[in-house]
Amino acid sequence: MLEILKTNQLAESLLHEVHTTASLAFHMEMLGKEKMNEVMKLQDIVYDYVENKETYHPNTLEENYDILDAGGHILGVYFKSQLVAFRIIDTPGLGDRNLGKDLNFSEEDLRKVSIFDSTVVHPDFRGHGLQFKTLMRSKEILLQQGYQHGLATISPNNLYSVRNLIKAGFVIKEVKKKYGAIADEIDGKLRYILWMDLRQKAGKQYQHVVRLGNREVEKQKLFLNNGYEGFKIVSHEQSDNFTIAYGRI
Ligand SMILES: CC(C)(COP(=O)(O)OP(=O)(O)OC[C@H]1O[C@@H](n2cnc3c(N)ncnc32)[C@H](O)[C@@H]1OP(=O)(O)O)[C@@H](O)C(=O)NCCC(=O)NCCS
Repeated sequence: MLEILKTNQLAESLLHEVHTTASLAFHMEMLGKEKMNEVMKLQDIVYDYVENKETYHPNTLEENYDILDAGGHILGVYFKSQLVAFRIIDTPGLGDRNLGKDLNFSEEDLRKVSIFDSTVVHPDFRGHGLQFKTLMRSKEILLQQGYQHGLATISPNNLYSVRNLIKAGFVIKEVKKKYGAIADEIDGKLRYILWMDLRQKAGKQYQHVVRLGNREVEKQKLFLNNGYEGFKIVSHEQSDNFTIAYGRI
């Protein structure tokens, strides 16, 4: 009983600190297979909390093992001794998980692809920019490892993730169904495919710009097929209702 009381008091005082401190002391570290229990536990908490389950596709334990075996990494963020966020990076080589295939990359480019796979932040620790900070750290690591392309899939109804990826320099290159049991475009979940040249420093200048709603799937496809890319969130009403600027150079 005393133990439970102490645990509750500790949890309460920690939560008080989290909610009242603007800049918390987080530390990042690489997570190996021995940390997979913590990873799966945090993933379960986050998945339970997600309102629209279409927007987040959690990995299985086997998928995480495969990613680590293939040379990818899982970057964890700790607050004191608690894992509060992680980012999974996949380096799939020429395998099926390579999203460069969806964008018709050459074999040479496919070899330089890294995938920004799932990221989760514990609901109590949102708003500290952890998705963005882990992205920037993983990007540095991937550049050192010689990767050139960053690719990611994000639900068109996941404003927070689309916004963080675009802020880091990603652009929307495609919208299609992914992760289906039959074939991507038949079943599966609707996803943007975003791309970034990890070496790119300056922003781009677009000649023609249009504004499209995230829900206007066919219109977005039409512009994407005509050389436009989504590069900015112009405004948002809700997390599943926002406007994106698409530009063509
Ligand atoms: C997407 C996600 C990782 C972003 O977390 P984060 O890095 O803490 O987000 P940010 O720091 O950019 O948050 C910016 C603002 O958006 C809010 N926000 C972020 N995610 C939110 C969510 N899912 N629901 C409501 N508000 C959210 C933050 O509270 C913050 O608000 P504030 O500016 O008023 O403080 C997190 O929402 C999450 O784990 N979602 C579930 C899993 C998921 O969708 N992962 C991405 C696809 S793999």
